[in-house]
This record gives sequence, C-alpha cells and structure tokens, in this order.
Amino acid sequence: IWAGLCLMGHCPRHSPGTGPSTGPGTVLAQVPASSEAVEAASREESQCCVEPLSAMEQEAEITQELGNLHGIPLYKSFIEGWPQVKAFQARPDDLVISTYPKSGTTWLSEIMDMIYHDGDVEKCRRDAIYNRVPFLELKAPGEESGIELLENTPSPRLVKTHLPVQLLPTSFWEKDCKIIYMARNPKDVAISYYYFHQMAKIHHDPGTKAEFLENFMAGKVPYGSWYDHVRGWWEKKQEKKILYLFYEDMKKDPRQEVQKILQFLGKELAEGTVDRILHHTSFQEMKKNPAANYETVLPALMDHSISPFLRKGISGDWKNHFTVAQNERFDQHYQEVMAGSDLHFQMEV
Ligand code: A3P
Repeated sequence: IWAGLCLMGHCPRHSPGTGPSTGPGTVLAQVPASSEAVEAASREESQCCVEPLSAMEQEAEITQELGNLHGIPLYKSFIEGWPQVKAFQARPDDLVISTYPKSGTTWLSEIMDMIYHDGDVEKCRRDAIYNRVPFLELKAPGEESGIELLENTPSPRLVKTHLPVQLLPTSFWEKDCKIIYMARNPKDVAISYYYFHQMAKIHHDPGTKAEFLENFMAGKVPYGSWYDHVRGWWEKKQEKKILYLFYEDMKKDPRQEVQKILQFLGKELAEGTVDRILHHTSFQEMKKNPAANYETVLPALMDHSISPFLRKGISGDWKNHFTVAQNERFDQHYQEVMAGSDLHFQMEV
C-alpha cells in the first residue's frame, strides 16, 4: 500500500499527472489539479503495480501506531527512521521551518519558497510544497524519506520539521543554521489537529472532540505536548538564532511578518515583490493551488472530502467548537501548565 504514498509526488512513475519520466523538481503546473485526475491516477496505480486493496485494507495499512521517541509520541515509521534523522548532516545555508503540527507550517513554507525565489509564482509551482520543502523526519515504508529527499535537494534548502527543540539534530546547531519557528494558539491548533486526524489516514480515528481535547491537553497526540513544544523553542531563542513568529500576527499583518522574515534573512525585496508574495500565499490563493493545498496526495492517505487540508485558515475557529465547559477546563489547564512563562498567545484576532 505504501506504493500509494508515491502519489505524494515522490515516485517518478506514479506522481499524479506528471507522466512516466518526471520526478521531484518537475513543474507541478503540469499536474492536473482536479480530484478526478488524482482518482484516475489512483485507479491506474491499482492496475499497474499492486493488487488492488479494499478501502478498509488500505486504511489499515496506512494507519500508524504511535511509538515513543525520547518521551515524545510519534508515528512508528518515523521512529524507525530516527537514526538517520539524528545523524543528519545539515549545510550552513539550510533554513529550518519548525512548528508544532497545524500551526501554519504550509503557509510559512510557501512564503519562504516565494522569498527564496524572489516572488516568482511559476517557480513556486515547480512541485508540491512537500517536495519543495522536505519534511525532515518523514519516513514511511518503501518510500523516499525526508532525509533522502533533502540529500537530493540543491542548496539553499528549506527544511520542515515538527520536532521538539531538544530533538533537533545537533548538526543544525553546529552549522549555526537559521531557524524560523511559528506558533499558533493551542485552541485553534487542537481543532485543526482534530480535523487533520480525521482526514489524514495515518491517524486512528480521534474519537469525539471532547476525547481529542483531553488527549491534546495531556500531550497524547503525535509530537506530544503543545505546551512543551512552544515553550521549548521559545526558551531556546534566548541563546540561538531563531525567529519566533505567531500565526495570529501573520493573520493580522502578514506584510509586517514578511518584513520581519526578510530582515532576519538580511534580504531586501521590492514592494511589488512583497505584494506578490502576500497575494500568492493568501489562504484563498493557497487553497486553490495544487502545489500548496496537498490535493495531489492520494485520497487513501488524505481525504479532503472529510476535511480539506486548508480547512478554514482563521483565528478563533475554536469558538465554533468548544463548549463553555470545555473552554473553562482548557483555560484552567493552560494557566497551570504555562504559569511563569513570558510566552503569551492571542486566542483570536
Ligand atoms: P485550519 O485547520 O484551522 O484551517 P499546517 O500547515 O501546520 O499543517 O497548518 C494547517 C493550518 O494552517 C490549517 O488551519 C490551514 O487552513 C492553515 N493555513 C494554511 N495556509 C494558510 C494561509 N495561507 N492562511 C491562513 N491559514 C493557513
């Protein structure tokens, strides 16, 4: 079934619509964006290289148990790949994009790729976002790992990770790589993560929202405690070159945040170029961009009909989901766990 993963665009034979001779780096503009095309590719896939599996069998094969990586709950296949991640050799001009899941990773990645390509929209359609910005710790059976993809990526590389600060491979610190961290308020993260658990079939059914919220607060979700993650990276920024951004600030004033990034990079761009970056990375534009919206992933892995990857893209959606009691409980727990920290979140904008 992991042949299915090659429909994430890694496999030259089966990337949807890219044809038989294309591979990473191929212009994604050639990729048919429609779900029909992806489904057609899916049908072709099942005819040409594996015995077709029933939907239930596919789901069972894709779903991953969570293991424990140095105290952090993580997908078992990622843990199997850990020795290679730990030993990863960074290059001095690598830039790390670090986030807790569902905090705007894809948004920041698209912004960074646009900055790296001086606002050239066509260049940023060259491939899907998960190939343009490889996911460091991604590992799935029989599939090109994040490490392998990175090794084949020319410098300067953008590297995506969700690892907590203490698990970032030491080479990134030794090479003094630039790091941008983006944090998002925990209520919106929890809701976004809940829907992501439903649509991304690597996860078991997350249960009810109430159950998921309890698991989220307890850190019993992939990548563990949000509270530890955001605080760990926040504290690290006292000693290391880390630009710490907030999703809510990006929503309020994306131009100002892009300027912060440019300053951090020591890069200048013309005002018109910044305008183009802001337009191209708006929620509406990204939602319809097959190179950014994850629609090119095989439906057996991500089912956008359950919940699209780019779901709502707002701050404060938690208000549509939390009950009054859940909100009180969440606030109380937040205050206990975050007590004494000078890290503060805007729960809405
Ligand atoms: P919602 O589920 O709340 O809509 P990640 O990329 O870290 O997985 O984060 C996904 C979240 O970021 C989703 O949140 C998604 O909609 C939101 N997102 C992605 N692109 C965005 C954009 N351009 N503007 C605002 N939010 C965006």
